[in-house]
Amino acid sequence: MRLFLKKISHPFLKFGLQFYYSKPRDYCYQDISVKIHPDVFPPQMTFSTKILLDFINEMNLENKTVLELGCGSGIISLLAAKKKAFAIASDINKTALNYLENNALKNKLQVQVVYSDLFDEIGNQELDYIIINPPYYPKKPKNIKEQAWFCGENFEYFDKLFSQLPKYLSNETQCYMILSQDCDLEKIKTIARKNEMAFELVLEKKDLVETNYIFKVRNDTWP
Ligand SMILES: C[S@@+](CC[C@H](N)C(=O)[O-])C[C@H]1O[C@@H](n2cnc3c(N)ncnc32)[C@H](O)[C@@H]1O
Repeated sequence: MRLFLKKISHPFLKFGLQFYYSKPRDYCYQDISVKIHPDVFPPQMTFSTKILLDFINEMNLENKTVLELGCGSGIISLLAAKKKAFAIASDINKTALNYLENNALKNKLQVQVVYSDLFDEIGNQELDYIIINPPYYPKKPKNIKEQAWFCGENFEYFDKLFSQLPKYLSNETQCYMILSQDCDLEKIKTIARKNEMAFELVLEKKDLVETNYIFKVRNDTWP
């Protein structure tokens, strides 16, 4: 999910992009269209959301329960709902959730919207799929907008995620996480291993600027 802004050094281009992303903007996938507040993760600026959308578009989600943990715009949850899943979209960003409620209405799709710090408010429901596009740059987020990008100086997001995840991973639950060459994969895998979680690579996608990976995250104690 490399930030294009990092690569753009020309001041006019930088200014132009910052201006463009200072107001709510639209993003579309197939016939689903969402309006995205500037404080919410912008799927237009990275490849990760689109890769996940294409990935779940191939799945049969009918009657499945799908949790998008850290939903941002929630377009992945909306696609899951369109594919007849029972879609749950959670985030720590209240603006994202307010916008998602409106976007769901506009698209005539049903999504259960949950304000939650990771799994804190998810409860005990059984999940068929968990989809995660995590923040992964190691820095303390200064505000809610930065929380979409930064996972804490010491990867605290992943410490908490991998300590909570095992409870939700039954044999039937499939958890997919997208990461990129741009992040400290080894560090993240180490935190997962400490919590008896393992990564299996299921998709590798190279584009002009980076390679993204979708991993299936599973319980390492399974055979
Ligand atoms: C990289 S964005 C991905 C957004 C969306 N899933 C997508 O693919 O476009 C990461 C999201 O995780 C959310 N997030 C970060 N830390 C969180 C936490 N502790 N609990 C819940 N959500 C969190 C951010 O607010 C942001 O919406």
